[in-house]
Amino acid sequence: MPKRTRRIVIYPGSFDPVTNGHLDIVRRAARLFDHVVVAVSDNSLKKPLFTLNERRDLLRLSLKAEIRRGHVSVDVFSGLLVRYALKKGASAVVRGLRAISDFEYEFQMALMNRRQESRVETVFLMPDEKYTYLSSTLLKDILRLGGDVGGFVPPALVPIIRKKIAANRLP
Ligand code: PNS
Repeated sequence: MPKRTRRIVIYPGSFDPVTNGHLDIVRRAARLFDHVVVAVSDNSLKKPLFTLNERRDLLRLSLKAEIRRGHVSVDVFSGLLVRYALKKGASAVVRGLRAISDFEYEFQMALMNRRQESRVETVFLMPDEKYTYLSSTLLKDILRLGGDVGGFVPPALVPIIRKKIAANRLP
């Protein structure tokens, strides 16, 4: 039988920081593709709380088992996503769709990416319902205000995020 090419998918995002919703998407994508490259974007339009390398490291910490098994890797990228996808030998980009409100932005991005590079498809996956209202922005806000984020982020990350928020608090 001819050898099938390895199907690689890119999961791009800001991941500032990674949440259990993102991890849920990575694991779903890993069941459909041979390898998932979680790619942290150096998006100069945004002002993230964590540096690019910190966001990458938080993802690596959260996905240790999957990385060890070779199903997942975590990388950083800058420039056009579709160019990066081709460079990595990926046939697709995966994005999570939480609610109708995500749809317009995601639809626009997917079609714009296709216009740039038709060889790279976009696939959308829905996270578990319990993550449909979760976002990195809300997570940071809840932590900043001393709320409970149990179940929204891997427990090992909570003190790291808390510390970063405290260090960034205005005097
Ligand atoms: O988690 P986010 O912030 O919604 O992710 C957005 C991201 C990183 C996927 C998007 O901004 C992106 O692809 N940036 C890379 C630059 C690029 O290709 N821009 C054109 C997208 S149509």
